[in-house]
Amino acid sequence: MKEMWLVILVLWCFSSSSSVLCTTPKPVVMWHGMGDFCCNPLSLGRVKSVIEDSVPGIYVKSLKIGSSVVEDIENGFFLNANKQVEEVCKQLASDPELKDGYNALGFSQGGQFLRAVAQRCPSPPVLNLISFGGQHQGIYGLPHCGYPNKWCNYIREVLTYGAYWSWVQNGLVQAEYWHDPLNEEEYRSHSIFLADINNEIAKNKTYIKNLLKLKNFVLVKFNNDTIVEPIETEWFGFYKPGQSSEVITLQESELYVKDRLGLQQMDKLGKLKFLAVYGDHLQFDEDWFIQNIVDKYLK
Ligand SMILES: *[C@@H]1O[C@H](CO)[C@@H](O)[C@H](O)[C@H]1NC(C)=O
Ligand SMILES: *[C@@H]1O[C@H](CO)[C@@H](O)[C@H](O)[C@H]1NC(C)=O
Repeated sequence: MKEMWLVILVLWCFSSSSSVLCTTPKPVVMWHGMGDFCCNPLSLGRVKSVIEDSVPGIYVKSLKIGSSVVEDIENGFFLNANKQVEEVCKQLASDPELKDGYNALGFSQGGQFLRAVAQRCPSPPVLNLISFGGQHQGIYGLPHCGYPNKWCNYIREVLTYGAYWSWVQNGLVQAEYWHDPLNEEEYRSHSIFLADINNEIAKNKTYIKNLLKLKNFVLVKFNNDTIVEPIETEWFGFYKPGQSSEVITLQESELYVKDRLGLQQMDKLGKLKFLAVYGDHLQFDEDWFIQNIVDKYLK
């Protein structure tokens, strides 16, 4: 009798896609955007509860960079992205809940930061990497800072005049993914973060190998984004080199054509997913999120 129930359960597990009884859901790691913090009830705190309500028993970790909420917000502006990624790699490796892998959700700059984690720190492994409005080819402009924040004007000025000065690169996070299409050479030689993770400086084969391990790399673009310039960076597109009006897609870029980062291979394997939302930066509704993200990638 016992055996029969076991057989039924096993068969049911194989045939059911919502096999709550059969497997524990994979944990989720989230990284917030600029000006935000780990547990903001209006942003990631809410996303965390939506996930927890939709997937019973799921473990969701929203990263805090630093030892307090104030530090977490400040570090989003002023702590070198390479150091942040290094710190996060340690946090993740020391969390026993994550040892068999996790799904990663990056919001805004958290999108490119979690990609750096996937490329640099393959253990524990990232399963699905989902980027919401991430700036994977950088930004060239910051029309609205997004948050009522005293640093916004200062940051805009510094980026305009000296994004590639070394003290700015080392001390201002947004400069580390500033991409000036009129000075591609300067970008390549002075960007201490983005040019590295995009294999613009050297072709790091480890980065390619690790990206290819992802199950899916999902890129969510906000069609009505007023914060990120150009918006296509959210899908890895950018200004055609040498000017700042015409935008080319990932597929038209040298990064893809020469497959410097393995994205062409990933695309051919069907691992790149391009989603678009009609809304401003990070504005999506709960139903969209549950149907397109939670149900497809987190269950
Ligand atoms: C490539 O990336 C890996 C992972 O971050 C790093 O350990 C290695 O030193 C890098 N190799 C080169 C040539 O930069
Ligand atoms: C977003 O932009 C599209 C055009 O790209 C426009 O048709 C639509 O009305 C806009 N939606 C919102 C919510 O602003």
